Amino acid sequence: MKKIGIIGGGAMGSGIAQVFAQYGHPVVLYDTNKEALDRSKQNLAKTFEKLVAKEKYTAEKAQEIQNNIEYADSLSAFASIDLMIEAIIENLDIKKSVFKQVEEIVSDECILASNTSSLSIASIASACSKPERVIGIHFFNPAPLMALVEIIPAVQTREGLADEVKALIQSVGKLPVITKDTPGFIVNRVARPFYSESIRLLEEGVADAETIDFAMTSVGGFRMGPFELMDFIGHDVNYRVTESVFESFFYDPRFKPSFSQKRLFEAGFYGRKSGRGFYNYAEGVEKKAPSQDQALLEKIYKRVLVMLINEAADALFLNIANREDLDTAMTKGVNYPKGLLKWADEYGLENVQNDLDELYNYYHEDRYRLSPIIRNFVKENKTFY
Ligand code: NAI
Repeated sequence: MKKIGIIGGGAMGSGIAQVFAQYGHPVVLYDTNKEALDRSKQNLAKTFEKLVAKEKYTAEKAQEIQNNIEYADSLSAFASIDLMIEAIIENLDIKKSVFKQVEEIVSDECILASNTSSLSIASIASACSKPERVIGIHFFNPAPLMALVEIIPAVQTREGLADEVKALIQSVGKLPVITKDTPGFIVNRVARPFYSESIRLLEEGVADAETIDFAMTSVGGFRMGPFELMDFIGHDVNYRVTESVFESFFYDPRFKPSFSQKRLFEAGFYGRKSGRGFYNYAEGVEKKAPSQDQALLEKIYKRVLVMLINEAADALFLNIANREDLDTAMTKGVNYPKGLLKWADEYGLENVQNDLDELYNYYHEDRYRLSPIIRNFVKENKTFY
């Protein structure tokens, strides 16, 4: 069993520790903040109390799993680990200095991974004297429940490491996908239009948030509508991701953030957690009933869907990931009802092309440019599957 060292006992680090401990790996969880470690340990105990009550585990097994985790307030406990996963604050300089420190303690064979969602793995690896052992292993929140894990080899990462890590991640019950070290990896790149195109529809006054949410859940089959989902994630998180993806893509207009969401963020209207976002969560405030105009609901659904499909297709065009991994990422990472490339085939690639060309011809905005792969496939009468 490989020994896993995790840095950062917050939401992600604690969840990742639980995943490996459940599969029998010895885990060392390190945090500079003693309270974070205590909290992590208590939360895990509560989680297992519930799992035992639900008869998912026996009391003995639950204890055994918890005993697999050692809580450490010194990095010296990392001397014998095989894999380090860093899950600390999302700050490049701090991450780089932590990687440097860890490299002085661990063996030469130890793999060093970051759980970053927005920083480039190449930039983190650049801090190391052996950058070829650095890789991204991006879990989703909550890590024990979300099956998807994105594996991100950097330009420096040695050949074969991604496959080794993939096998390890599979062995702890997860669904790993391999993606290039580009902004947002798969999920946070391909999912952008779900939010941005919906906000655009709202800003243009095509429909209100309630109706757009209803279109995406009732016609599209998504579990949550975009506005409910953004309010749930929090605009502090969701807006920041949007802005960071936009900046990292050298300001490609396709990823442009919106003023509507920026103002919510600036106002501290983060969504559910602050009582107000796109919706008002104060007691007694009821949501408006959505429009039942089927033609309008269809129009909304189609516009958001073709934008999503275009993003997934373009990621395939640019070899960010393979077809299966792109579809797995969206169904397992953000619970989309279908993989977008599979959905594209069902919707008809010619229909995707026509819808997007119509939007492009109307707006003359680069945001609506069709990915060449779709035009090529239509010309050659090909489908994704
Ligand atoms: P968090 O704020 O819940 O936890 C971070 C922990 O790291 C804290 O306990 C803090 O005391 C500790 N820490 C900070 N600096 C440290 C240092 N120099 N050495 C040791 N410990 C240190 O953060 P969260 O949400 O767990 O995120 C961690 C990482 O995972 C970030 O890179 C984030 O982008 C990424 N991520 C977050 C997701 C989320 O939904 N929260 C999803 C996927 C990735």
